[in-house]
Formats: sequence, structure tokens, C-alpha cells
Amino acid sequence: MTYYDDISEGYEELHKEEQEKKIMLIKAFFEPKSHEKLLDVGCGTGLTTEPWQCIRYGIDPAKKLIERARQKDIIEYKIAPAENIPYPDGFFDHVVSITAIQNFFDIRKGLLEIKRVGKKSFVLSALKRSGKIDVIRQLINDMFEVKKEIEEEKDLIFFAS
Ligand SMILES: C[S@@+](CC[C@H](N)C(=O)[O-])C[C@H]1O[C@@H](n2cnc3c(N)ncnc32)[C@H](O)[C@@H]1O
Repeated sequence: MTYYDDISEGYEELHKEEQEKKIMLIKAFFEPKSHEKLLDVGCGTGLTTEPWQCIRYGIDPAKKLIERARQKDIIEYKIAPAENIPYPDGFFDHVVSITAIQNFFDIRKGLLEIKRVGKKSFVLSALKRSGKIDVIRQLINDMFEVKKEIEEEKDLIFFAS
């Protein structure tokens, strides 16, 4: 049982508004096409999976959050960590991971997996106040081609290919 399983009941009450603000901001720069496949890594209750107008998939290791996500929408949700993404190489046109990377137990491995399953573009964000933010920024810059970095109220958001 993870911390996020423990807070699953109140997660949206606590975080919905701030996560919706991030999505609005991201949508100014990123909008997948309807036939494209998108994976949301660390999707939680689906707040960051639902808004895209395309073929959506979500993974998260927190079983209780995934159960909530499944109740809301017909999207393929799987219980899995970023470090072991249960899809083949290049399966997704786009991979997003919103406010989850600071929680990965092996950040490098999680980012390698994200890169492995993605083809065209990546939108990756992490909490600025995380003690791991400098490492996360460095790894993202080393492993991806970062086109844009935005400093949002709580997150750093990277748009990359
Ligand atoms: C702040 S929540 C963000 C959830 C969702 N993206 C949103 O914005 O509402 C952080 C998420 O990271 C997930 N997480 C923790 N460890 C993870 C890992 N190793 N791989 C993928 N996700 C992980 C948690 O279960 C949680 O759902």
C-alpha cells in the first residue's frame, strides 16, 4: 500500500484544481491528434489522462487510484510503475507524466522506459519543491531533446522529443 493509495479517497479534492491548471497551460503548447496514442505515466485518478482528445492509456502503481480512474472513463488503465512499463517499444505517439517523476523509485530507469515506449513527443513535469528537481532536470536534458521548459506555480514542465 503506497502513500497515494492511502490518500486515494481525498486525492481529487486536494489536487484537482491545481492539476487542471497545469493541463490548461500544457494545452497551449501540446495537443495530440485524435488518432494518436498517448500514455500517462503516474496517471493517478486519471485527472491528467482524461483531458486529451486521442486514444488514451494510463499506468500507475497505486491500485486504489487506478480503481478510481477506471470508474470514471473507458480508458485502458494498468497498475504498473514507470520503471517497468507494460507496453512494447515505440507503442505511443506521446507520453506525458504530470507531477509524478519525483515519486519514481528509480528516476533514470523510469525516464528510460518513458523514452522506450514513446515515439514523437514527451511532456514531463515534476514538483519544483522536490529535493530531486535538479537531478530530474539534468536527466531529462541528457536523455531527451528539450524544446521548451516552463516554470509553473508548482511544477517545472518540459516539452521534449
Ligand atoms: C501527485 S500524483 C499525480 C497523479 C496525476 N498525474 C495527477 O496529476 O493527478 C503522483 C503520482 O505518482 C505515482 N507514482 C508513484 N510512484 C510511481 C512510479 N514508480 N511510477 C509511476 N508513478 C508513480 C503515484 O501513485 C501518484 O499517482
